[in-house]
Amino acid sequence: MFPIENPQIIHHHRLPPHAWFLPSAHATDTIPVYPTNSDRVLSLNGIWEFQYRTEYGSLNFDQAFRTTLITVPGCWERSGYGQPHYTNIQYTIPVDPPRVPDENPVGIYHREFVLPKNWDDKIVHLTLLGVSSAFEVYCNDQYVGGSKGSHLTAEFDLTPHLLPGPEQALDVIVYTWSDGSYLEDQDMWSMHGIFRDVYLSARPVNHLQDIIVSATYDHDDGLGSLRSFFKSDTELALRVSLYSPDGDRIFSVPASSAERFAYQVEDCSPWSAEKPDLYRFWIETLNTQGVTTEAIGFNIGFRTATIGGHALFLNGKSIKLKGVNRHAFDPDGGWTVPVDRMEQDVRLMKQHNINTVRNSHYPQHPYWYTLCDRYGLYVIDEADLETHGFLYVRDWSELSESPDWTEAYLDRIERMVVANRNHPSILIWSLGNESGYGSNIVQMAEWARKADPGRPIHYEGAGTEKSVDLVSVMYPSFATLNEAALNDAHDPRPYFMCEYAHAMGNSPGSLREYWELIYANPRLIGGCVWDWVDQGLRSQMPGKENLFLYGGDFGDVPNDGNFCINGLVNPDRHPHPSLSELQYWLQPVDVGVALGAGEVTIINRYDFLNLDHLIGSYRVHTEDGIISEGECDLADIPAGTQKIIPLSALKESWPEKREVWIDFEFKLAETAPYAVAGSTIARVQHCIQAAEEVTVARDGGLPAPVSAPSSGEGVNNNGPTVTLSTGKQDFQLNCRTGWITNWKVGSAEIIQQPLVPNIWRAPTDNDVQIAEEWRLDGLDRTVTKMKSFTVDEEGSRPYLIRTMGYLAASGLRPYAEYTVTYTGLSTGVLRVDLQFEPTSMMTRLPRLGFMTQLSPAFQFAKWFGRGPHDSYADRKDAAFIGLYTLPIPQLFHDHIRPQENGNHTDTRWLQLSGQGVPTIRIQGSPCLDFSLHHFSLANLTEARHTDDLVWDDSPYLYIDLAQTGLGSNACGPDTLGKYRLDPKSYHFKFTLSAWDE
Ligand code: GAL
Ligand code: MG
Repeated sequence: MFPIENPQIIHHHRLPPHAWFLPSAHATDTIPVYPTNSDRVLSLNGIWEFQYRTEYGSLNFDQAFRTTLITVPGCWERSGYGQPHYTNIQYTIPVDPPRVPDENPVGIYHREFVLPKNWDDKIVHLTLLGVSSAFEVYCNDQYVGGSKGSHLTAEFDLTPHLLPGPEQALDVIVYTWSDGSYLEDQDMWSMHGIFRDVYLSARPVNHLQDIIVSATYDHDDGLGSLRSFFKSDTELALRVSLYSPDGDRIFSVPASSAERFAYQVEDCSPWSAEKPDLYRFWIETLNTQGVTTEAIGFNIGFRTATIGGHALFLNGKSIKLKGVNRHAFDPDGGWTVPVDRMEQDVRLMKQHNINTVRNSHYPQHPYWYTLCDRYGLYVIDEADLETHGFLYVRDWSELSESPDWTEAYLDRIERMVVANRNHPSILIWSLGNESGYGSNIVQMAEWARKADPGRPIHYEGAGTEKSVDLVSVMYPSFATLNEAALNDAHDPRPYFMCEYAHAMGNSPGSLREYWELIYANPRLIGGCVWDWVDQGLRSQMPGKENLFLYGGDFGDVPNDGNFCINGLVNPDRHPHPSLSELQYWLQPVDVGVALGAGEVTIINRYDFLNLDHLIGSYRVHTEDGIISEGECDLADIPAGTQKIIPLSALKESWPEKREVWIDFEFKLAETAPYAVAGSTIARVQHCIQAAEEVTVARDGGLPAPVSAPSSGEGVNNNGPTVTLSTGKQDFQLNCRTGWITNWKVGSAEIIQQPLVPNIWRAPTDNDVQIAEEWRLDGLDRTVTKMKSFTVDEEGSRPYLIRTMGYLAASGLRPYAEYTVTYTGLSTGVLRVDLQFEPTSMMTRLPRLGFMTQLSPAFQFAKWFGRGPHDSYADRKDAAFIGLYTLPIPQLFHDHIRPQENGNHTDTRWLQLSGQGVPTIRIQGSPCLDFSLHHFSLANLTEARHTDDLVWDDSPYLYIDLAQTGLGSNACGPDTLGKYRLDPKSYHFKFTLSAWDE
């Protein structure tokens, strides 16, 4: 039997690794890239018989045991066997390598198949693209072999085990745990089974074992150099052919497997993420009559990646890696990712200006690389290696230093590099993730460098050791980044953030600060956001299809809860607002505006493309609408250059006391593989007439929104309450608490709960640390205590009420004082002034403002400010200032663990309307933040999942001076100081009015 507790035996009878390809009978117009596309491949995907046994013991192939059916590929935890288990760092088994628990569930897979008729004279190979964690293969009840390494391809020769007739049987026994599990402690769901495709391929008896293709590009002379090496047991006659990206034949010539083949392509079209030109390269093996016995094709790209002078160069251009980390994850399949999902990921990444993907933290399904080649993404391909859990038991580097594990480490780099090295998209090899450091890692680097000298080597755990070609870090502070950018004299290597911007929940903050630094400093070559997709598993309970589950939801203990929900897109790939912000900071076009000169500077940030493929337009607007619009001329702006163009619209005169904005938009002129014509690639906004005058106008009174003051105006002091009336509005205040308990416009009731101060927000995931302090300081349970209440009258017309008091929490001394002044202005408007003075607060405020609950009749929000998606002080650049209208429910953004969301910064004014209620207007002075939710703050704070949320017909309205920013502090830098609401005095003013439209 195949040993699963011996790291030195990694396989039995596995064929040597080779470049991944699908053999065909002939060279054709399209190279097959998916197992079902080739005429020499028989997919074994589909329904298999299955038996799941929880104990590890003698196995029996008796048919009687095979009681159920299962779909291959698939993770058995998603088919009702065992349970998904999520932990970040800690192992879910006792750490005693190489031993694994006695209770080690096995899955026995069985299927029969019929060999295609014309395969009689062929060698039959069995390929398994991914099996977790170790397995044995039997063909017609004979042992074929076994293998470890979940995310690596394993191939076996079935020929000696085939029966004479066409009918054959295959059994695969899969072990949950093996010594290999100690090398696969990545932060993700633990899943098992045959989770990637299984197929057979028919090879001629004499066939090529491997083909290495190197295609480089010399940017000085435009020459592409193709070199190909072949491995075979016998010398084979070959015909090699190359076709241009347009399909023209460049050559088709004889060659021999015994010799290296080389060719130089003149006027070569190099490959880059921006222009992923692929050439078709076919290698045919020929029999003695010169007839093709097999054809193997690769889509190749000519490109040269080098490191020098602190930068990463591709085809002679220094490039920035605008990346994300991607786990191969599907909410239904878990580790089994359908082809459509892979396509969706690539297209979404390209649409959002992402040019790099780190395969965190293991090699991918072969199809993924073909997509990256075709659509254009730079790939950091990472070995299936992580031993993070050793951090908790002794020494993080234990296995990385142990000679007993050297072979296993080398196996993981070798199988990745050999399988994938012909892909142009792979720019960098990564030795793995979070496995400490030791001689095994060093040997992996040496192996990779020798086997594939053209690609830089990455491993974050190596720090500044010589074994790596990039200095790579995770979640650096801005201070560290600054230092690395400037103080580079003693290390010539580029500086790369393999993980940054922890996109967990409502996050991340400060993409602006990262990218301003990266664009300004050659040594900072970019980074990959952690991470692409929320790893939430869809509930399989009927009626709960929209519920996504995380650690602990399957009774999986121990677990790390929702720490697997860190994505820019949700499990269904619905983008979070963070993706728009990332798209903005990665965009290839920027615009500078020189108002006086009446000119704009169009900046092309592409590395290779000019801007011809885009259509540029501008729009000058105020809150009243568009003033002028037109196209921008994008001709002759080569990559990396900028051009000044005159724009007469900048010389026009604009309405007084209005902010004036100019928005630029750059759209695809023609449909690209990843997006249809007209898709927006870049957007830039500038304020061209500032707000000062506008602010003054708002402060004293508004452009008369209501009719003349009614005769009933004034304060009716009726004991426990007092009513301040202005215009059509009557505000009833509680004289004991000082708060507005009733707001009426005519006979319509606007609010259902008093308008009270509020400083709490439902903590975001990145608030995890600060929220502990907030709770210690009582900010989650604030109560107010009024100390004074005064009414000023002008004649019999009271117009000003002032209330003073403090904020406090149970068990603690009062921590802040307030003075709130309500002023009825002659314009029929109520002005609310809050003066806030902290007394004993130690921590920053989550937010500062007021909240109330509106009548259920309110349905729509219209505002002039940032939108349409939510924005926070440190994540707002992609939310442009504009006039927006949305139904209130659409202001809520679903996060898998409910939390603060839907805030809108820099709001000039907000209007709320609905059926049968007057429109009301809340105006900032100059600005405010607002949010509106149909769920209470307590509910949002407590809910663990979206189905814990209890809909309330009456929307909760929050009017804030500001909120603290979002940061990345679940494992990255804290919210920057300038985006925090530090405990200090604040003055917040806004007005409430009825608005006749
Ligand atoms: C990194 C790690 C990732 C993930 C992340 C936190 O340290 O490489 O796998 O755990 O932190 O979400
Ligand atoms: Mg880890």
